[in-house]
Amino acid sequence: MNRYTFRDTDPAEVRLALLAKVFEPEMRRLLSMLPKRPVRLAVDLGCGLGFTTRLLMDVVQPLRVVGMDISWRYVRSARTGFPGLEFVERDVTKTPFPIESPDFIIARFLLTHLSDPEGILGAWANEMAPRGLIAVAEVEFIKTEHPVFSTYLSVVESLIADSGGKLYLGPHLAAADPNRLRRLSSEVYRAPVSTGNAAKMFSLNLSVWRSDRFVVDNYETSFLDVLARRLEQLQAQTCRDRIEWGIRHIVYERLD
Ligand SMILES: C[S@@+](CC[C@H](N)C(=O)[O-])C[C@H]1O[C@@H](n2cnc3c(N)ncnc32)[C@H](O)[C@@H]1O
Repeated sequence: MNRYTFRDTDPAEVRLALLAKVFEPEMRRLLSMLPKRPVRLAVDLGCGLGFTTRLLMDVVQPLRVVGMDISWRYVRSARTGFPGLEFVERDVTKTPFPIESPDFIIARFLLTHLSDPEGILGAWANEMAPRGLIAVAEVEFIKTEHPVFSTYLSVVESLIADSGGKLYLGPHLAAADPNRLRRLSSEVYRAPVSTGNAAKMFSLNLSVWRSDRFVVDNYETSFLDVLARRLEQLQAQTCRDRIEWGIRHIVYERLD
């Protein structure tokens, strides 16, 4: 199993809550790409604190929705935050899942942390009900000319690679052909993010991963201190033209 580099500490929770807010329109767009069909059981893999699970319930309105996450702490917070929804602690690279076959699976910003995303998509397909749908969202690019942001991103890219994942997984998914799945749609959603929000998400994340073994072995403390300080200084800025995310959205249908 890969290690989840962004962990499940207090600042990691605050970052996930901010990420959910910043990327809510992106998630709504992904859900709007689904063919309109009644959904019996929908599953949110790598659901974190449950924000995406709640959106899934609101937009798709399945009869039942289950969020699964490897972190017991996130599962506990999700149950507290969304008491009407079901959450299960689970490493979702392990199949079979402990539930009946879903007819819809969503996974946002999860495959980026896993070492064989194409193989895992094929394994998930085997878990689905006939003609079941899988929707994924992963980073295609993060465009920025801001030196603080590009420095931060180059560290994160190496850190995720060290744990077996890929920060910019979107282009690889676009070229992949997972077993037993037919691609129904693929697009890149563009999301400009304010400098302040990007700096807040990055600061919180840096405070979590700066003690990671790979980071400690490869970066000087003084370099990380300067990066942390510079990110903090950017947090009050509201302009939206310094950094933009491109998110690859793909919807698959299970082939039977
Ligand atoms: C970046 S967060 C995304 C959370 C949520 N999907 C969203 O878009 O807001 C990635 C989540 O995947 C979870 N995760 C990482 N590896 C996992 C695994 N093998 N099985 C289940 N969950 C995993 C982490 O605990 C974390 O909650």
